[in-house]
Amino acid sequence: MIQFPKDFIWGSATSSYQIEGAATEGGRAWSIWDAHAHIPGRTNNNENGNIACDHYHRYKEDVKLMADLGLKAYRFSISWSRIQPDGQGEVNQEGIDFYSNLIDELLKYNITPWVTLYHWDLPLALQTEKDGWLNPEIADFFEKYADICFRSFGDRIKNWITLNEPWVVAILGYGEGVFAPGRKSKNEPYLAAHQLLRSHGKAVKLYRKNYQVEQGGKIGITNNCDWREPLTSKSEDIEAAERSLLFFLGWFADPIYFGDYPKVMRERVGDRLPKFSDEDIENIKGSSDFFGLNHYTALYAADVDPNANAGNAVYGNGGIFEDQYVDLTADPKWKMTTMNWAIVPWGCRKLLEWIRDRYNNPPLYITENGCSLDDKLENGEVKDTVRKEFVEGYLAACKKAIDQGVNLQGYFVWSFMDNFEWALGYSKRFGIHYVDYKTLERTPKNSALWFKEVIKNNGFEF
Ligand code: NOJ
Repeated sequence: MIQFPKDFIWGSATSSYQIEGAATEGGRAWSIWDAHAHIPGRTNNNENGNIACDHYHRYKEDVKLMADLGLKAYRFSISWSRIQPDGQGEVNQEGIDFYSNLIDELLKYNITPWVTLYHWDLPLALQTEKDGWLNPEIADFFEKYADICFRSFGDRIKNWITLNEPWVVAILGYGEGVFAPGRKSKNEPYLAAHQLLRSHGKAVKLYRKNYQVEQGGKIGITNNCDWREPLTSKSEDIEAAERSLLFFLGWFADPIYFGDYPKVMRERVGDRLPKFSDEDIENIKGSSDFFGLNHYTALYAADVDPNANAGNAVYGNGGIFEDQYVDLTADPKWKMTTMNWAIVPWGCRKLLEWIRDRYNNPPLYITENGCSLDDKLENGEVKDTVRKEFVEGYLAACKKAIDQGVNLQGYFVWSFMDNFEWALGYSKRFGIHYVDYKTLERTPKNSALWFKEVIKNNGFEF
């Protein structure tokens, strides 16, 4: 029996654009993701989030399903363009009401809401008129938006996450152009990342100054990182794996824990890496009350000779590959999910221990972990055995990390239900609840029924 610490937080997560739908209802204006998804060829089958899971209209039914599961916490994101349709100025009361009602509904069932302020759906006007995350002014816009959220929901929200996966915004949004706003550049990822960090820093400073004491909440950021295992025991490969982790997680976590980008990034990226002002450092250093981590997979890392061919730059490493010179490969024996992400639970333990060692063992939450599979609903049942095994394996790895002193305090499975998987549309199913996109009916998959027992027993047989 694997038993988790008392008070361990069992949660599940979603994000606004992926589930809400009602894209033009309730005073909401388009975000960069609405625009991106409406450009032919950008998403699988040209799918978009117009309807998604229709959570906007079905949130009560969804919260009831969460309660049936015994969920302790639910992580969702606020759509900035519901709160401020043009990204600045006017507050849209209908947007405030929607989230306020959702929060009340959760609290009614004793489910603790965790709120992400930015999960990639920037109000479109901030992109078209203000150049999005490349404009330093964005930090002021984000601070104002955050202020509205703290003021409107902070009496009931005690767990805030400023940004979700800024790495993805920078690399897939500004490097490879496969996510909104669809930019392809070798420099812009660094510029966008810099403004994302500055925006995070400003919002946290404001929260701490005006709200935290009175409201008694915590605030942090969620970063994503895969594990990188050295391909061989050669020192070049060990360094390559470390470098890959620093260009991935260190890029965002080092400024937050140490006040600057990793040395290896400063050396390799040179002048193309922006510098923080003293004020930025003051805002950013120490700006996370906890370490939010989204983790899904692992790859082997090998050193690449800069003079040789570019190697196998893989998806998610492209835009800044030339600065890293790391070759990433999977072990052909690893089982894959339908994202083609390898299932490597031990990588999770190693990453958690790496974070413990590098960042002085911060309180940590896995704010996302899960897998996409070819789920089929047959006779009212979804036999997603691999998902159960996936979560079981990763949770067992988490427990091992806890036994090694990692201060892991909670785990949120991604996702509560199948939803719009960005450029891959509805083709990938990550949910522990199945969504029939024709009827919008939700069905707990077998993994959800299993997870319910895990929550009840605070652990499982393994
Ligand atoms: C991370 C993102 O935060 C989420 O939006 C996405 O659906 C999952 N990973 C799966 O790719």
